[in-house]
Amino acid sequence: MKSPLSILLLFPLFLLPSSAIRFDIQNNCSYTLWPAVLPHGGGRRLDTGQTWTLDFADGPKLAKIWARTNCTFDSSGRGSCLTGDCAGQLNCTSYGAPPLTKAEYGLNNFAHKDYYDISVMDGFNVPVEMSPTTNGCSKSVRCAGDVVGQCPGDLRAAGGCHNPCTVYKTPEYCCRAGTCLPTDKSRFFKALCAEAFTYPEDDPTSTFTCPEGTSYRVVFCP
Ligand SMILES: *[C@@H]1O[C@H](CO)[C@@H](O)[C@H](O)[C@H]1NC(C)=O
Ligand SMILES: *[C@@H]1O[C@H](CO)[C@@H](O)[C@H](O)[C@H]1NC(C)=O
Ligand SMILES: *[C@@H]1O[C@H](CO)[C@@H](O)[C@H](O)[C@H]1NC(C)=O
Repeated sequence: MKSPLSILLLFPLFLLPSSAIRFDIQNNCSYTLWPAVLPHGGGRRLDTGQTWTLDFADGPKLAKIWARTNCTFDSSGRGSCLTGDCAGQLNCTSYGAPPLTKAEYGLNNFAHKDYYDISVMDGFNVPVEMSPTTNGCSKSVRCAGDVVGQCPGDLRAAGGCHNPCTVYKTPEYCCRAGTCLPTDKSRFFKALCAEAFTYPEDDPTSTFTCPEGTSYRVVFCP
């Protein structure tokens, strides 16, 4: 039975722009995480089994999502994390320090498509899976191999595994201009995370698209 009140309550839904999207960020790890979402969203603590839902009425055009590990913060939200630390803030306003596994989302205004990927261009700290949840889009992308356990000695970091660009800062690994090729070190990541972005021109095997305005779930330790 429809009352005038229920019609009134439904009405605001029609005012939402078609680009309203949602990120559900889920901690399926056996340990506490402090995920962060930039440029909009900030960061917070997320215990095992908890989900952080972010609703964006309009956009965003870009999002980078990562987890911080082994953090301690004081009551004012100042502290530090072993991996992914964003200048010591609980509620991040700057990108995290590597190593961190990154889920990325972007809106291509021109082609009217979303693109999404998992990147190890800043290394790896926590296994991640990113999945579209709306618009009939369903391709999950996952990077959940034992990257930390098998990390080559020169890339090892406390709580994670560095990307070679972070360690060596050379054109071969960082490729800030011109074309670049996979390296033995990027192949280490590719072998364990076939769908992840492992070197700067890894797009063909690592970037996925959905219709504009799709929502996503990001699961840590899928
Ligand atoms: C965290 O920062 C975002 C802006 O980046 C802000 O919208 C949000 O309210 C902040 N959250 C807390 C708990 O302070
Ligand atoms: C980080 O946290 C994990 C899980 O709680 C723990 O097993 C590990 O020992 C911690 N590492 C450091 C360096 O504190
Ligand atoms: C959470 O992790 C367990 C294994 O520890 C796995 O079976 C389950 O599918 C994961 N859940 C999600 C949503 O990925």
